Amino acid sequence: MTAVAAQALNKPPRDRWSAQEVATLASMRLKEAGPRPADPSNAYEQRTDAAALGRALFDDTRLSRNGQVACASCHSADRQFQDGKPFGQGMGTGKRRTMPVMGAAHSPFLFWDGRKDSLWSQALGPLEDPAEHGGNRVRFVKLVQGHYKDRYEAVFGPMPSLGKLPDDASPAGTDAERAAWAAMPESSRHAVNRVFANMGKAIAAFERNISYGESRFDRYAQATVAGDGRGQEVLSQQEVRGLRLFLTKGQCGTCHNGPLLTDQAFHNTGVPPIDRNQPDRGRADGLKKLLRDEFNCLGRYSDARPEQCGELQFLATDDPGQLAAFRTPSLRNVAERAPYMHAGQFTTLDQVLQHYASAPKPVLGHSELAQPGEQHADRQAIRLSPADIQDLAAFLGTLTGPVVQPE
Ligand code: HEC
Ligand code: HEC
Repeated sequence: MTAVAAQALNKPPRDRWSAQEVATLASMRLKEAGPRPADPSNAYEQRTDAAALGRALFDDTRLSRNGQVACASCHSADRQFQDGKPFGQGMGTGKRRTMPVMGAAHSPFLFWDGRKDSLWSQALGPLEDPAEHGGNRVRFVKLVQGHYKDRYEAVFGPMPSLGKLPDDASPAGTDAERAAWAAMPESSRHAVNRVFANMGKAIAAFERNISYGESRFDRYAQATVAGDGRGQEVLSQQEVRGLRLFLTKGQCGTCHNGPLLTDQAFHNTGVPPIDRNQPDRGRADGLKKLLRDEFNCLGRYSDARPEQCGELQFLATDDPGQLAAFRTPSLRNVAERAPYMHAGQFTTLDQVLQHYASAPKPVLGHSELAQPGEQHADRQAIRLSPADIQDLAAFLGTLTGPVVQPE
């Protein structure tokens, strides 16, 4: 095709980007996320019968102390699989903001502090959290036995023989529940743990089918890669200015990169804690919890071989950067799910951006955001004018796409 003919088909690019910037934009397209990485610790995650069972469990309010809380209470399909509140509200009020489920299957570590290393072991946490479902594993396992036995056995094989169990018992529960757990024979504790772990594996099989769909930003990046000027019109000039700021002086892409706009790592960015006297220690505590979690990749309920748990075996626990560090969240659909940060500290995107521009001194640990005038090895102070903030907020709105979920 002649150059003239090509021009007749494609208007020349409206917005000019360097070759390196085009490569960066290409790397941010949703399609680059590829298929969800397989989780070797969950042998059932691909099974549709496991996913169907997981969906039923996800919606079942009987899996709670008061019979009113399900996963879906906080992770609602019509609210971006979160709740739009600063703190999760279940049996009580939690200390952190509910995270969306989309994209979670791509994260090597779950929760704001990364205290879980798989989607299935993550699911076991809220079930026994006193502020969330507030239940205990023996009660849950009896419920599965009573209401889901056939569906459970079709996926996981025969229920182990559970013997006579107390009504309520768990190593993570109240004093009475812990005592009841300690009094159970080791074989019953193991059998209960096995069924409990399998509940998580079914829930994970359901959750991994919930994902982000393409946004206007993806169409823009695709058009830019293809040199298609007409396609670039999908973003306004202001949104493109915001995108440029994101990649250049905003330095946002140093942490929010790749197709999900997250490096999946943990950073202290000086976000003010809710309680200054008891600041959240974030990753520093999350890592310790992960390493002693009986449901981690190396534990006996994992289906992985030890060499498949690479991340877990080589984690440094003495990195001072872990103190008050939180996981970089995906920015996909971010405009649809205020409030922001690990405890909903900010109610608008403007406030989030204002935070980056002011880079407050952290209450705990060391912020990775350079203060004005300060020189960090890998980042300068983020200087944003009021107009920059508006442009950046406009750009963040282009990252909204549909939530893709099973019929
Ligand atoms: C009371 C509200 C509430 C309930 C009920 C609840 N969650 Fe959550 N969920 C949260 C909060 C809050 C967080 C973040 C907590 C943290 O980081 O400490 C979270 C985090 C998550 C994450 C992590 C996402 C990521 O990217 O790391 C997943 C997945 C998830 N929940 C799934 C579930 C499942 C499955 C259930 C049911 C078994 C459930 N949740 C029940 C509030 C809730
Ligand atoms: C040093 C790494 C880093 C840099 C640089 C960075 N972020 Fe973040 N971002 C994070 C982390 C970590 C969080 C979560 C912090 C928390 O909750 O304490 C976050 C949270 C956010 C949130 C809230 C999302 C949510 O779900 O709560 C938005 C929006 C955001 N960043 C946008 C930006 C923009 C725009 C820039 C550039 C101006 C930027 N970030 C620069 C790491 C970074």
